[in-house]
Amino acid sequence: MSEPTSTGRAEGGPATADPRADRFLRACRREPVDTTPVWFMRQAGRSLPEFRAVRQHASLIEITRDPALCAEVTLQPVRRLGVDAAILFADITTPFTGLGVAFDIKPGVGPVIDSPIASSDDIARLRPFDPEETVSPLLEAIRLVRAESPVPLIGFAGAPFTLACYLIEGGPSREFLRTKTFMHAEPAAWAALMEVLVETTIRYLRAQVAAGAQAVQLFDSWVGGLGPRDYAHHVAPWMGRLFDGIADLGVPRTHFGVGTAGLLRLQAAAGGDVIGLDWRITLADGWALVGDRAVQGNLDPALLLGPFGAVADTTRWILDQAGGRPGHIFNLGHGVLPETDAEDLRRLVDFVHDHTP
Ligand code: CP3
Repeated sequence: MSEPTSTGRAEGGPATADPRADRFLRACRREPVDTTPVWFMRQAGRSLPEFRAVRQHASLIEITRDPALCAEVTLQPVRRLGVDAAILFADITTPFTGLGVAFDIKPGVGPVIDSPIASSDDIARLRPFDPEETVSPLLEAIRLVRAESPVPLIGFAGAPFTLACYLIEGGPSREFLRTKTFMHAEPAAWAALMEVLVETTIRYLRAQVAAGAQAVQLFDSWVGGLGPRDYAHHVAPWMGRLFDGIADLGVPRTHFGVGTAGLLRLQAAAGGDVIGLDWRITLADGWALVGDRAVQGNLDPALLLGPFGAVADTTRWILDQAGGRPGHIFNLGHGVLPETDAEDLRRLVDFVHDHTP
């Protein structure tokens, strides 16, 4: 992969001497690193006291519409935890506004859609997504983070299947029965919805990279609910189109899912330079399945609710499996749980840096 030109600013800026400046990007490209890079999905959030203080006076949606506040919240975990990458503060549902989909993010619940999608007419009514019109404060936040951050900035989006789960279920779901039924009962409408979401996500990620994001991650958080046959027929081709649509940007692309041990080979074939591994598969087995890619994961976030000794033991076991082979980014297998003690996250960052084989 060629060096993205959009990284120019950080390299010339104040970040040059910080060893964290390019560890993450080098590992994404499977280049040798001084020590294993580490960051955490959902690192900016309720586990940080300074985030809770911001949330006293601003909702998630308000934060994403205030560039300075959004940049500040994005950088909070970089300062407190010492992680090797920042992730833009937003939600996977943030672009929905641009499609004309009204929703709210309910504390402790998650995104709730006012009028869930139930028919092809609902899909025909979705508006074409224009990033400048819908998320310009977020793009400005990216520029602010880039001017200040000692570490690379990851942009992100929800993957089409996971976005479709929210649009069709209307809110959180355990089984995704409406979504699966829609996929099988209305294949043409499903294809039309995937088409809209692929196009939206390509535009959204291209805008983030143009504004300065140095890597991107696609969160297909709920795709592990599908069997391999449905994934191969109804999701993988769209993921392929999505990854192709951002390939020329030259930034590393991470393909993340949860509960995907049975899908990893198909996911890797669909696309991504870095493949996410949750904790239901060993790093060694997961890496063997995805082959010539970088991998990211795979500590169970629940371990951080227990004694640090268990976190340290399992982290050492994961690092030993990686064995210093280029292309491992340490992360949790899913997002930081809200009950996590920020001090344990900070200790974990140090532990990973100190125990790389
Ligand atoms: O990683 C980060 O620190 C950046 C910010 C970020 C948020 N959401 C902020 C958020 C990211 C990367 C996301 C992604 C996201 N959102 C995913 C994919 C990652 C995953 O966990 O699988 C998903 C599925 C969502 C949907 C979502 N948004 C849920 C299920 C919830 C409720 C659970 C929760 O954590 O509260 C949200 C709300 C949300 N997104 C919050 C934050 C900080 C909490 C809202 C609040 O503070 O009011």
